[in-house]
Amino acid sequence: MASFLRIFSALIFLSIPVSSQLDELFFPGFKDLSNNLTLQGIAKIENNGILQLTNDTSRKMGQAFYSSTLRFKNSSNSNVFSFSTSFAIVIVPEYPRLGGHGLAFTISPSNDLNGLPSQYLGLLNSTDIGNFSNHLFAVEFDTVQDFEFQDINDNHIGIDINSMKSNASVEAAVYTDNSTKQDLSLKGGKAILVWVDYDSAENILNVTVSPNSSKPKIPILSFRVDLSPIFNEFMYVGFSASTGLLASSHNVLGWSFKINGPARALDLSSLPSLPGPKKKHHTGAIVGVSIASVVLAICILSLAIIYIIKKIKNAEVIEDWELEVGPQRYSYQELKQATNNFSAKQLLGHGGFGQVYKGTLHNSKTEVAVKRISNESKQGVREFVSEIATIGRLRHRNLVQLVGWCRRKGDLLLVYDFMANGSLDSFLFDEPKAVLNWEQRFKIIKGVASGLLYLHEGYEQVVIHRDVKASNVLLDSELNGKLGDFGLAKLYEHGTNPATTRVVGTLGYLAPETPRTGKSSASSDVFAFGALLLEVACGRRPIETRALPEELVLVDWVWGKYGEGRVLEVIDPKLNAEYDQSQVLMVLKLGLLCSNNSPAARPTMRQVVRCLEGELELPDTLRGPRSSDGDKAAEGLDDLLNSFASSSFDKTTSCSYFENGVSYPSLSTSPITLVYGRD
Ligand SMILES: *[C@@H]1O[C@H](CO)[C@@H](O)[C@H](O)[C@H]1NC(C)=O
Ligand SMILES: *[C@@H]1O[C@H](CO)[C@@H](O)[C@H](O)[C@H]1NC(C)=O
Ligand SMILES: *[C@@H]1O[C@H](CO)[C@@H](O)[C@H](O)[C@H]1NC(C)=O
Ligand SMILES: *[C@@H]1O[C@H](CO)[C@@H](O)[C@H](O)[C@H]1NC(C)=O
Ligand SMILES: *[C@@H]1O[C@H](CO)[C@@H](O)[C@H](O)[C@H]1NC(C)=O
Ligand SMILES: *[C@@H]1O[C@H](CO)[C@@H](O)[C@H](O)[C@H]1NC(C)=O
Ligand SMILES: *[C@@H]1O[C@H](CO)[C@@H](O)[C@H](O)[C@H]1NC(C)=O
Ligand SMILES: *[C@@H]1O[C@H](CO)[C@@H](O)[C@H](O)[C@H]1NC(C)=O
Ligand SMILES: *[C@@H]1O[C@H](CO)[C@@H](O)[C@H](O)[C@H]1NC(C)=O
Repeated sequence: MASFLRIFSALIFLSIPVSSQLDELFFPGFKDLSNNLTLQGIAKIENNGILQLTNDTSRKMGQAFYSSTLRFKNSSNSNVFSFSTSFAIVIVPEYPRLGGHGLAFTISPSNDLNGLPSQYLGLLNSTDIGNFSNHLFAVEFDTVQDFEFQDINDNHIGIDINSMKSNASVEAAVYTDNSTKQDLSLKGGKAILVWVDYDSAENILNVTVSPNSSKPKIPILSFRVDLSPIFNEFMYVGFSASTGLLASSHNVLGWSFKINGPARALDLSSLPSLPGPKKKHHTGAIVGVSIASVVLAICILSLAIIYIIKKIKNAEVIEDWELEVGPQRYSYQELKQATNNFSAKQLLGHGGFGQVYKGTLHNSKTEVAVKRISNESKQGVREFVSEIATIGRLRHRNLVQLVGWCRRKGDLLLVYDFMANGSLDSFLFDEPKAVLNWEQRFKIIKGVASGLLYLHEGYEQVVIHRDVKASNVLLDSELNGKLGDFGLAKLYEHGTNPATTRVVGTLGYLAPETPRTGKSSASSDVFAFGALLLEVACGRRPIETRALPEELVLVDWVWGKYGEGRVLEVIDPKLNAEYDQSQVLMVLKLGLLCSNNSPAARPTMRQVVRCLEGELELPDTLRGPRSSDGDKAAEGLDDLLNSFASSSFDKTTSCSYFENGVSYPSLSTSPITLVYGRD
């Protein structure tokens, strides 16, 4: 009782200075504190008490400041006080490997900064950046490497004074008790406890982070700075976060702040926690496993039935690999019914390796596209396995979703989301069914770019699509571009070299090094994407067999015109000159950059996406090897063409398949598709 009284009187004693001159904040969770915080942008306090600055909506910012200012100086020209703060953050990116910009602890003269999203973290805009009159101080937790602000990597902690170019920054890490450095991922989706301590006598600012509640002895970042000229007498304290094209949810679980003394300790275990790992991406594996076990059960069951009834005609035999496959398995009967017995009326077209039918699933009444790969195409089986194993686990709004599959004897069936508007090529070339305006085209390009970025960087393995082209870009009812046809996709682990495989792809989209080295890589996908950019801007195929000789290869023609300073002449006349000229020019230049002969000179998809988002500027003039080294390009194509001179390859018949010298009847509508060699 006595000790209780002592604590009680101590509390009363403590609360006197707090009420007269606020110098301490302690929020172990933010429940019922919406009056005490000023929220901006999309920030909100969730029911469980978590302060969510952003969710994974693209290009947004969110801020929360304590609603009144705190005194940081005794008078406007005196020295700044020492301060100390501690807070717990959780950053959950939309795609586990890619961050969605970042979060910053902020001290500012305003509680409504209204800065730009993306790399500006909602703090500043492009005009006030670096201006001394900003009086802005921030400690950023940045998960995207921005070259404009010379970010060191995509997982760093930085100290920003009046600018987004950090005055000091360091890769996120923790010092363990024996002084060894341990990596720490900011975008790992786990709680991170942060301490920011400023000693105004020593002019030292320390930033310390930890994955648990115990504070490491050694700070990860220690920076000598006098904050007196930066701070005003009264300042707001809080947090700001932003998302770009890549998005994360940025959360603060708890916060403690104190002027002239150590901030009260936060204990991670007593703070609110985020509800479970994100379903969207992490449960893919779990769902896969549980579906696999369901499939296993079905397998055992159907095997039993097969044994009992024996020799049922057209039995659906299940093999080992099928058990590992994620998406739903449909019965042949179901798909037969859905497509009206694969009637010719339902035929949407021919994709690589098979026909595609429109169908309506009987139970759910959802419209689907069913791709049927028939027995005739023997090579189909392997591609089929690759396709369901790969695409079945991928999830992105700009990828055509595989919803299920079925196998019956030699017949392989894949069930996809139905894309109401068909493929992009039917809108671009020859006599298009409708002309897309520039805005629609630009939206499609951006969508495909972000889908491809996801394949390259956002999945647990690197997925090389290997057949990016207009006819593999499908459009939904709202004309969103979605990348489809993963029949040729290859996976490999991040950080490893792609293995040599047989060369696949479509002439005109095929990077010049691919036939030479036999390797497909992320940068050969970028090459094909470059061809796609040019196609969309110019409204013609990458290789136009009916064109004048100098216009045969699209990229060379565009380079030629670019070199002559007449690049506007290549823009699709069907656009009727109604477009945002700087945007079209950017797309053309980007297309040329991607089409560089040297893989090393091509941008990454991440850079491409950032250019398209206007986050990265292209140089005014391109010094491409195509102008000085232009013959190389032709050489690459010539090599390829010559290597088939002895076979039945013919530039004018538009499709032919080659496997071991055997030519199959064409199933593809692509201009010229080549498949040769062996794994
Ligand atoms: C929050 O604001 C309310 C009134 O607006 C005040 O009574 C309360 O003390 C504040 N709480 C904190 C932790 O500042
Ligand atoms: C994100 O937050 C905004 C604003 O609160 C809301 O409108 C939107 O629906 C949220 N999006 C998601 C995916 O939760
Ligand atoms: C600020 O000024 C007051 C009154 O002049 C003084 O009592 C106090 O110690 C000063 N605080 C600091 C941190 O210097
Ligand atoms: C940039 O921010 C400053 C300060 O908030 C504001 O005065 C200015 O208008 C902004 N500029 C632009 C281009 O938004
Ligand atoms: C810095 O901002 C102030 C106030 O917004 C403005 O008057 C001044 O011109 C800016 N300085 C520079 C170099 O932009
Ligand atoms: C911090 O960086 C900004 C811009 O890079 C620079 O103007 C400023 O002088 C730096 N401040 C300190 C204290 O290093
Ligand atoms: C906290 O994390 C650090 C760094 O990972 C580790 O060295 C330390 O043992 C952990 N402490 C506790 C109490 O778990
Ligand atoms: C420090 O501890 C870690 C494990 O906590 C251990 O792996 C490492 O070898 C130790 N380093 C030294 C220098 O003792
Ligand atoms: C900052 O870190 C250094 C080095 O560990 C330490 O000596 C100093 O006391 C720390 N200062 C503050 C204010 O935490």
